[in-house]
Amino acid sequence: MEIIIRKTIKDCADIAAKIVAKYIREKNNPVIGLATGTTPLKLYKQLIAMYNAGIISFKNSTTFNLDEYVGLAPSHSQSYHRYMNENLFNFIDIPKDRIFIPDGMAEDLRQTCIDYEAKIKACKGIDLQILGIGSNGHIGFNEPMGSLSSRTWIKILTQNTIQDNSRFFDNAEKVPRHVITMGIGTIMEARHCMVLACGWKKAKAVKAMIEEAVTAKWPASALQFHQRTTAVIDEAAASLLSHKEQYAWVEKNQLDWQSYETPSKGK
Ligand code: PGA
Repeated sequence: MEIIIRKTIKDCADIAAKIVAKYIREKNNPVIGLATGTTPLKLYKQLIAMYNAGIISFKNSTTFNLDEYVGLAPSHSQSYHRYMNENLFNFIDIPKDRIFIPDGMAEDLRQTCIDYEAKIKACKGIDLQILGIGSNGHIGFNEPMGSLSSRTWIKILTQNTIQDNSRFFDNAEKVPRHVITMGIGTIMEARHCMVLACGWKKAKAVKAMIEEAVTAKWPASALQFHQRTTAVIDEAAASLLSHKEQYAWVEKNQLDWQSYETPSKGK
């Protein structure tokens, strides 16, 4: 795994935006997997700024979101449809018919999951999948002890995640119990995964993802088997890592074309 540690969440957003921009600028029809939550908000702000500055355009991009709550209409204040419109899509030039988000209101939830997988395949897979990580190590809404080969499906949230996400609802009772999420198997097929993690609350999960044994107890640890994962983390989230010097050494010794710091480089 490639580990990039930066001082603050803003610094993480800056480098993450450069990684996304690389795909948008260098690929004819980039397919980007998107995440929701608090962590990617600054990244989306940065992408909007790059769009406004004429550095990137999303007109040839396709996006697939990781997950959505079951039973929340797109207009609901906490639906991920609404989150994406309000934090990214309303401010960029992505064609509406190139945006895909799981349909948590589908009459046939099982079929909608099967169709979602088919749509990803029809677009020839995801080039770059943006991921957050839960304090319990989930990616997407793949909770601990689930299959590490799962596909897009309906999942039941753990009480830990319901508690974490209750800050967005009136109370924990209002947090939906069911979600649709890309599976770990779906995520593992993305050609490049980029995990963002910021803050002390994520330190244990980050440690488990990067430096401990692969286990369903920490679903993000499955990424150790991924062909190309970049973890972009702030110093607080990196605080429990034992090999920070090695990660800094690797970054310092990258060849020019491996660096993300220059937009035209970093293939
Ligand atoms: P957060 O959520 O960015 O709001 O911390 C991340 C996640 O649960 O995947």
